[in-house]
Formats: sequence, structure tokens, C-alpha cells
Amino acid sequence: MNVLLVGSGGREHALAWKLRQSPLLTRLVVAPGNPGIAALAELADVKVTDVAGLVALARQMAADLVVVGPEAALEVGLADALAEVGIACFGPTKAAARLETSKGFTKAFAERHGVPTAEYGEFTDGGEAKAALDRFTPPYVIKADGIAAGKGVVIAADRAQAEQAIDDMLGGQFGTAGSRLVIEAFMTGEEASVFALCDGRTARLFGAAQDHKRVGDGDTGPNTGGMGAYSPAPVMTPALLEEVRTRMIDATVAGMAAEGTPYCGVLYAGVMVTPEGPKLVEYNARFGDPECQVLMLRLASDLLPYLLACAEGRLAEMPPLEWRDETALCVVMAAPGYPEAPVTGSRIRGTEADFGPEVTIFHAGTRRDAAGDLRASGGRVLNVCARDADVAEARRRAYAAVDALDWPEGFCRRDIAWRALSR
Ligand code: GLY
Repeated sequence: MNVLLVGSGGREHALAWKLRQSPLLTRLVVAPGNPGIAALAELADVKVTDVAGLVALARQMAADLVVVGPEAALEVGLADALAEVGIACFGPTKAAARLETSKGFTKAFAERHGVPTAEYGEFTDGGEAKAALDRFTPPYVIKADGIAAGKGVVIAADRAQAEQAIDDMLGGQFGTAGSRLVIEAFMTGEEASVFALCDGRTARLFGAAQDHKRVGDGDTGPNTGGMGAYSPAPVMTPALLEEVRTRMIDATVAGMAAEGTPYCGVLYAGVMVTPEGPKLVEYNARFGDPECQVLMLRLASDLLPYLLACAEGRLAEMPPLEWRDETALCVVMAAPGYPEAPVTGSRIRGTEADFGPEVTIFHAGTRRDAAGDLRASGGRVLNVCARDADVAEARRRAYAAVDALDWPEGFCRRDIAWRALSR
């Protein structure tokens, strides 16, 4: 099979690494990819939002399947454009991807279909939004409706901060993504990420992971795209996972089909385990990054036939997924200044050393310079991943690899998986 994979981060490096192992794979092209992916696939210099360019590339390489990594490609309708030319795509249409691209859509959808989530209100008018704060208690959760580079959620400690956040968002802080906003009740509990493969009618759970959103040890500092992850996540017990499957995932896939926007691709549920049970924090229409990296390390089954079955509406025919009975853990190494103002350009050495079969390093924001040296080119730069019999051993292996790398400027959190280890 010829596969086109769209994206350039650690998530796509992990997907390429797993797809490369498939005996069904003939040709793998990644657009635009990164230097780590270049060792596994052909790279094509086409941007993830260049729909016409990606469709032309898929046709020219006779792609049997296009796998979409980032939400940016979904938001501009890549899956719709591929459907028009009859190319199978793992990733939802623009309308179905509203589960990620519109917080207001998802809250209303959850209400229509009985998906458990926090009370909310949706606003385009600042006065109405501020008056509605009376219905909530601090801390106030204010969310821009659209995609705002992971920065569109404000947890305001008091009313003054909440009103400021409302003014900022409606005043254009996030462009059109903030011209509509959602206020919702604050949820207490532990958060985890739950994944499901979906083919429009059927869903299959694809594991759970726990991410670390804050930049600093002890969950301090600003929010990031994710500083590390591990899977499985002990907080997601089999009973809770079953509840998430029936009350969130299955209800959502059935609801999307009934509303004429069937959901195909991976559905990523951010779930808060509250004292009243699991509640939906948000949906994403893609794999999490770095959660995907740890899922790929744990997956024993061949990924490719499952992604194709989703794209072709045949997921129900597939045998159960098989997983390694191990924990996988990922430490994200970032450029100094991340997330506010990452300083790029520093040289990285040592990524190609042999760390043994349990350790895998995925590239995110890297590039090669004219001399062929590896340089940091983004905020999150490397994903140092390991798997082992338990979370403590996986963590020990991952940090040993981090410490062996020669990148003095890079930094990471030193406490990945602290929740699992403190149980
Ligand atoms: N790691 C969080 C995300 O992918 O959105």
C-alpha cells in the first residue's frame, strides 16, 4: 500500500515509525515531515494546510490511504477534498472535526446526546458573558470557541480576571477563534486522555494516556502542548474506561452519524475523573501529541489495517487490538524559552546513538543545517520515549537517554508520571 502521512511533529514521527513496520506498506510519503521521519519515509515539501497540494500529491503517488496528523489540515477540509477524488482518508471531515474546532458546537452536541460534561453558556456579547458569571462560582473557566494554538482556555481565579479574559477574547486576542466564547463550570479531579478509532458508525477504544500540560515540575508555569506522557494511565481503570466508551465515545459516534456528519478518524477525549464520575473536558479530532508516541510504543497490532478499516467503514470486521503488557513513557525536550518565546538554532548531538530496543527518540521541532547537523527549530524539539515492565523502569530508561544526549540548551520536566508513581 502507498500511504501519505500529513504532519511534521513527534506525533507524525511516531505514526511513521509504526506504519513503517507494517508488512502491508509499500511506499510512505510524509508531508512535510522532519529529519527524524526522513530516515523512515520520503518527505514532500507540502504544507499541512495546502489542501490542493496534498490532494495532488496523493493522486500523483497513487495513495491508497492518507493519514492526517494535525487538526489544522482537518479544519481546512483535507478529508472532504480527498473524498471528492475518491481517496481513502483517516481523519474527519471539516464538519465532523468541529468536535475539536468549535467548543460551542461540542458543548451543545454533548447536551443533545447526553454526554456528561460541565454546565456551560455560549456568548458573543461581552455584557451577556459577564452577567452570566453570576451562574458560576470561581475559578471561572473561559474558553475561546475556536482553535487558539492551545492558549484559548483561561482559568480565572476571580471575577475581575474572568471579565478581563472575556474582554480580551471578544476583543480579538485570538482573532476569529475568540469571537465566540464558552464559560463552563470548573471541574475538579484528575484528567486523562482517552482515544478511540472510529469509522463513522463504529468505535474501538485505543487506550488511555496521561499528559503533562504545564511547563514546569510539579505542574507549575504556563500551559504547553504537552511536556510528557505515559500509557497506560492508572487513573483510567477498566470500569472508568467502559463508562467513557459507552457514555462518551459510542454516544458521540452515534450522535454524529444521526446528525449527518459521521466521524471517521481518531477521537481523543480529554476526560476529567470527577467525584461524580468521568466528564468530558474537550474533544480533539486527532491523536494527542505526545500521547500518540506512547500509544505507538505500546501497540502490538499492525496499525495500518486499522486505519484503512476506519477510512473504509470496516472497523467492526477487525480483530481486537493487541497491546504490549508494558508501560510507555515520553519525556519532551524543549528549546529554552518554550512555551512563550522558544530560542531555536542550538545544535543537538547524540540522537542517533543506540539506546537499546526499549528507547526510541522521535523528532518534533528539528531541522538539519547545511552541514547536516541537527538543530532545534521549534518549541518542543525531541520526544525521548521508553517502554518497560512498569512506569518506574520506563521512566528510568527515558531519563537515562535524556541525560546521554548532547544538547546543553534543551530542557525537560524531571517528574513525568509523578501521578502514577505516587499512587
Ligand atoms: N497533548 C495534548 C494535545 O495533543 O492536545
